[in-house]
Amino acid sequence: MTRHVAASRVATLLGEFDRSPAYRGLAEGLRVLITDGRLPTGVRLPSERDLTEALEVSRTTVARAYAELRDHGFLVSRQGSGSVAHLPASRSVGHGDHLLHLTEHPDGMADLTCAAPLPGPGLLAAYERAVAELPRHLGGPGYFPSGLPVLREAVAEAYAARGLPTDPDQVMVVPGAQAGVAIAARALLSPGDRAVVQSPTYPNAIATLVRSGARLVGVEVPREDDDTEAMTTTVRQVVPRAAYLIPDFHNPTGALLPDEGRARVAHALARTRTTAIVDESMAMLPLEGQRMPAPFAAHAADTISVGSVSKPFWGGLRIGWIRVPAARADQLFRARLSLDLGTAPLEQLVAADLLRDGADLLQHRREQLRASRDAALVALAEHLPDWRPTRPSGGLNLWCELPAALSTALVPRAERHGVLLASGPSFAPEGGLDRFVRIPFTQPAHVLTDAIARLAPAWRETLADPYPRPDRATPGLVA
Ligand SMILES: Cc1ncc(COP(=O)(O)O)c(C=O)c1O
Repeated sequence: MTRHVAASRVATLLGEFDRSPAYRGLAEGLRVLITDGRLPTGVRLPSERDLTEALEVSRTTVARAYAELRDHGFLVSRQGSGSVAHLPASRSVGHGDHLLHLTEHPDGMADLTCAAPLPGPGLLAAYERAVAELPRHLGGPGYFPSGLPVLREAVAEAYAARGLPTDPDQVMVVPGAQAGVAIAARALLSPGDRAVVQSPTYPNAIATLVRSGARLVGVEVPREDDDTEAMTTTVRQVVPRAAYLIPDFHNPTGALLPDEGRARVAHALARTRTTAIVDESMAMLPLEGQRMPAPFAAHAADTISVGSVSKPFWGGLRIGWIRVPAARADQLFRARLSLDLGTAPLEQLVAADLLRDGADLLQHRREQLRASRDAALVALAEHLPDWRPTRPSGGLNLWCELPAALSTALVPRAERHGVLLASGPSFAPEGGLDRFVRIPFTQPAHVLTDAIARLAPAWRETLADPYPRPDRATPGLVA
């Protein structure tokens, strides 16, 4: 596998850089792109000659910049492969070491590691209605490996309403979207297979895909929602077996891939016979009343779509689903049975109730998220004006670009100020991303406002002393 990036693309990613002197500005610009993962580790950079032409600088400028990066470990020269982007060991993060266990937090600690909403009003009433329904399902042993028909129908109807006709037989109920991704990975991937993932992406999916033995190839999530060039080019170069995508309010960036972008990515995947595993966990959370694009599977019939009630309703239900392409039904069903034998009927009844009749609850959820998002943005502008957060039109997260690559150094400082954070590298399939931090807006507005005010002194201390004695932050679940 040879991944490379065109000189014109590097020029676009770099934009303007400091030219006094030019070689140092160029080296700094490239270093930032490599630590951010926008030039992922393992990618071959353009030859000195090509970059010289694309940037309209002297050949010496590029040669000196490359030499400086090589000296600091950000480029390695490989025989026959030119100059390859690389992260020095201290800047990369082991997969899964952020995924430890849920811990009880001391009072007053604001937990911004977990992007999961609290249960809304009306959930208990849905449970009560489900309990009344339950006797109809108590006649047998209680195993429903594909799910209760009533829930499979509700999921199929929801897909049809979004423009993707779906037979209830295509729906398999699973214990949450994370389990859905694990089942899809188990069905599709063998050790050594390549899988393309967005960078950043959802940390627990990184762990699942790595566990399946796949070699992950990260593709930057562009700032413009409709820019699919990096994805289509990488798919063409890498010819992956699978691509794990979050097109609906991507976790953590919040990006929403529009219809045309979906069509372009689907076309690229079809040419390499790559199967998409599409995580639609956030698809029910548009916050601006906008029309959602059609599900990705409307463009690529072979797509394995994964969804869940965790984000719109409550993670405690542990109910999700897989929409199975007809040709893969047997493969996915077998993979599922190798992991578990079905989910609890009571929670399935609650989920079916919420999908069919939960419009008010969903509306309430969206209003609360919108208020929390806006409060977080106001607080960031006030307390941390040099952070650059995204302003997503849906989902649960702000992705903040920091003025320095110090998110890992910030985490223990923030904890001392009573805020638990997940650092950028937790979301990096191939390391890097230390210049970013995720702020979920799932907590009430006042909690976020207070937490962000507490982050300001933590950030000031981090800038003043970026690398103090090693300190262990409390491990947490990044969800
Ligand atoms: C993109 C994404 N996929 C999957 C999950 C896990 O969802 P579930 O609770 O349905 O397993 C999350 C939760 O944070 C998520 O953000």
